[in-house]
Amino acid sequence: MPDDAQGNLTEVSAWLREARHIAVLTGAGVSAESGVPTFRDAQTGYWAQFDPQDMASEAGFRAAPSRVWAWYEHRRALAQSAQPNAGHHALAAFAQRWPGRLTLITQNVDGLHQQAGSEPVLCLHGNLLDNRWLDVPRDCCRMEHAAAGSPPYCDRCGNLVRPGVVWFGEPLPLATLDAAQRAAQSCALMLVVGTSGAVYPAAGLAHRARAAGARVVVINTAPSELDAIAHAVLRGPSAQLLPALLGTANPVGMSNPA
Ligand code: APR
Repeated sequence: MPDDAQGNLTEVSAWLREARHIAVLTGAGVSAESGVPTFRDAQTGYWAQFDPQDMASEAGFRAAPSRVWAWYEHRRALAQSAQPNAGHHALAAFAQRWPGRLTLITQNVDGLHQQAGSEPVLCLHGNLLDNRWLDVPRDCCRMEHAAAGSPPYCDRCGNLVRPGVVWFGEPLPLATLDAAQRAAQSCALMLVVGTSGAVYPAAGLAHRARAAGARVVVINTAPSELDAIAHAVLRGPSAQLLPALLGTANPVGMSNPA
């Protein structure tokens, strides 16, 4: 374990034991050790020539529906072939051991938290495996017709099927965001794990927690835009640091369930 993380880890473990309610905000970094590229990792191979921010948008999809659909099919295949790592499992095990104490909020769309057994998961940006109609569906939009490599479509009105994720410029699911904001407002400790902190409103949850008096801890292999508001930074891989941290969290005054 990186040396500077060890020192902070002891302090953060004490904060965790004292915290009755913990909110965890995760980003693509928690899936990196499962082999799922992070959002701002350089795209590889064929996809390196395209900007993910362009493709993850309605305008990008309308401009090149087959290309964007193929990119999501590529990402779905990566996510479906990936397995949750020790970080995902540590979060799920902690929540099962201490029911109601941990609220998990994720920006990830890969489904790996759910696969590790976390439930519920507040998915701010949707799920890669979900689809929906691009335009408001009409009565004719019942059957999806798919041509190889292209998005399914309605053969009556031409409506396209699109990935059910939240694209840049689109609103987040209101109920999910509201629940995440309430958790940020009421937690005693927020762990911000594997996110660059570059995208709002997700990153704003860390500011909200801090403003409400929670301790904020960043877990990341590299500096992030939220380090500046953190009370502690654990510099290292989440698949190592989350098990080390969450395995030590017998709260003060709470008996350890059988
Ligand atoms: N352990 C911890 N952190 C890691 C690890 C790891 N093993 N590997 C990478 N990281 C960190 C990187 O240092 C970076 O800060 O994970 C972060 C990944 O950042 P991004 O690629 O920007 O992903 P994310 O923060 O989730 O992006 C937020 O932006 O593009 C939108 O919708 C997209 O949900 C995404 C959102």
